[in-house]
Amino acid sequence: MLDQLRNDFMSVFQESTDIHMFFSPGRVNLIGEHTDYNGGHVFPCALGIGTYAVARKRSDRKLRMFSNNFREKGVIECDLDVLENNKDHEWANYPKGVVKHFLQNGYEMDSGFEVLFYGTIPNGAGLSSSASIELATSVMLKKLFGLEITMIEMVKLSQQAENEFVGVNCGIMDQFAIGMGKKEKAMLLNCETLEFTYSPVVLENASLVIANTNKSRGLSGSKYNERRAECERALKQLQQALDVQSLGQISIEEYETYKFLITNEMDQKRAKHVIYENQRTISAVKLLNQGNINGFGQLMNESHISLRDDYEVTGNELDVLVEAAWAEGAIGSRMTGAGFGGCTISIVKNEELDTYIEHVGNIYTKKTGLVADFYVVEIGNGARELSCSLIEGGE
Ligand code: GLA
Repeated sequence: MLDQLRNDFMSVFQESTDIHMFFSPGRVNLIGEHTDYNGGHVFPCALGIGTYAVARKRSDRKLRMFSNNFREKGVIECDLDVLENNKDHEWANYPKGVVKHFLQNGYEMDSGFEVLFYGTIPNGAGLSSSASIELATSVMLKKLFGLEITMIEMVKLSQQAENEFVGVNCGIMDQFAIGMGKKEKAMLLNCETLEFTYSPVVLENASLVIANTNKSRGLSGSKYNERRAECERALKQLQQALDVQSLGQISIEEYETYKFLITNEMDQKRAKHVIYENQRTISAVKLLNQGNINGFGQLMNESHISLRDDYEVTGNELDVLVEAAWAEGAIGSRMTGAGFGGCTISIVKNEELDTYIEHVGNIYTKKTGLVADFYVVEIGNGARELSCSLIEGGE
């Protein structure tokens, strides 16, 4: 694969001396949904699939970018000194935004660069192909320009680029999981303080399975921002009684005592989801750490029900997939990511994997007319440079 990418780079840019290679994963969230922008907890992990980048510095100030996934767009070119969001540049706005935010924050680049990207994450599936290319760009900039920058800082600048340059109002979860991921571990992250701990994901005789509805969803879509606004309104009303900065700081008992302050019934349901989901995430991680996989799975199921009934972000395709998973004996199953399409994540016994995938796939197609894709999850490391020995040995 890496040899192939080196050849691709050569054929696009006619030169392949001094190249460096990088890999940045996608992510899947095991539990803790729509809690990150509410200062709550999430429990994501990095995937084995992701974005490769092959890059070298140029002697002028041009950025020349090419994606194997969008070959028809050709090389997208811009100048280091003029970085603006340009609709025609589509995918290239993500790396451009990261460069701009690095520069704005005092990280200096003395020249432009050329880069070839190749992504193995299905686009629009809710597995964070956008945060993946942002972190691929970040680790690339660090290496090419010898920048003194920590991974946490790169995570924050990548999120800033997505919020301000691309204009998607996401929380910190995706960039954090992709930057800080560790093989075979998920991370419990407090999105208010950015304190985090790793937990080994040991499922004994079971595996994590992602199912893609293949119903794409736009995050910039209004529903995500609508939920954020509903949560903010609910928080404001709860603040009449509680001295807190976010819904993530509110306990279930406090919510039950003061929920009457939230005058709009729908806002009340949104706050309920966030506050219960936050506690559920902390409890779920405790269970997993104790080796109680059934208990963890049960809380995944409860998470889905809450996202379906109170947060209302699932939709028919995700519900059909999750209900089929439950019927086919999954230990736990829920939607993952923003919702409104995208993927589910389930825990499935290894001995049942093949029949599970076949049966759930059939039920899904029968009920929706769509075909789902299934992936058995490999939990991988975070964004990084790929060493030369790997390049020569092939990865
Ligand atoms: C998207 C956003 C994340 C998070 C999830 C919902 O993936 O990018 O920041 O809000 O939705 O948990």
